[in-house]
Amino acid sequence: MPHIKVVGLGGSLKPGSASVLALKEALRGAEEAGAHIELFELHALDLPMFVPDRAPPESVQRFVDSVSTAAAMIWSSPVYHGSMSGAFKNALDWLELLSKHSPPYLTDKVIGLIATAGGVQGLQAINAMEFAVRSLRGYTHPLTAPLDRAWQLFDQSGQFSDEATLVRLRTLGKGVAEAAKKMAVLG
Ligand SMILES: Cc1cc2nc3c(=O)[nH]c(=O)nc-3n(C[C@H](O)[C@H](O)[C@H](O)COP(=O)(O)O)c2cc1C
Repeated sequence: MPHIKVVGLGGSLKPGSASVLALKEALRGAEEAGAHIELFELHALDLPMFVPDRAPPESVQRFVDSVSTAAAMIWSSPVYHGSMSGAFKNALDWLELLSKHSPPYLTDKVIGLIATAGGVQGLQAINAMEFAVRSLRGYTHPLTAPLDRAWQLFDQSGQFSDEATLVRLRTLGKGVAEAAKKMAVLG
């Protein structure tokens, strides 16, 4: 099987972000499946707002370069007002820097999707992210993880206490890595 890289992107800008914790679990699943993983937390990336044609700062260039050499990504956003967060969408907008790459954008990359919601609108953010995957020419992995009422899934120390969710996230990460490996063999 080919050696592949899976890049994780996500989280909100607050410490102890549920969507980052969920993303880390999914990346663990990808790693267990043999993938090399790299995590980009939005609060650490501290991306400026995307401005067309503006030279990207070093943090953006490092992120975009890493994405361009990945076989797959896992995205994890909190649900903000029925969709992905603005900060998450801004990170995706910076992928416009891949428009002139060959192949462009996220062509042939597999994308796993996670959303953490306070209520029951996780699937809305997943659907919004799926539109973005398609416009960036990637493939959404069929196992998605809309985590509704995410606050119920954690214990008081801020760790996941829900075993079924842990299994779901690791299975998602493993599925993304294995699908990317199959795509790499076919390509
Ligand atoms: C500005 C804002 C808007 C939100 N909008 C929604 C929403 O529309 N639907 C929902 O289910 N939860 C909503 N939430 C709750 C978050 O989705 C939820 O707390 C999520 O787990 C936060 O993830 P994080 O810990 O990674 O920031 C909102 C939270 C904030 C701060």
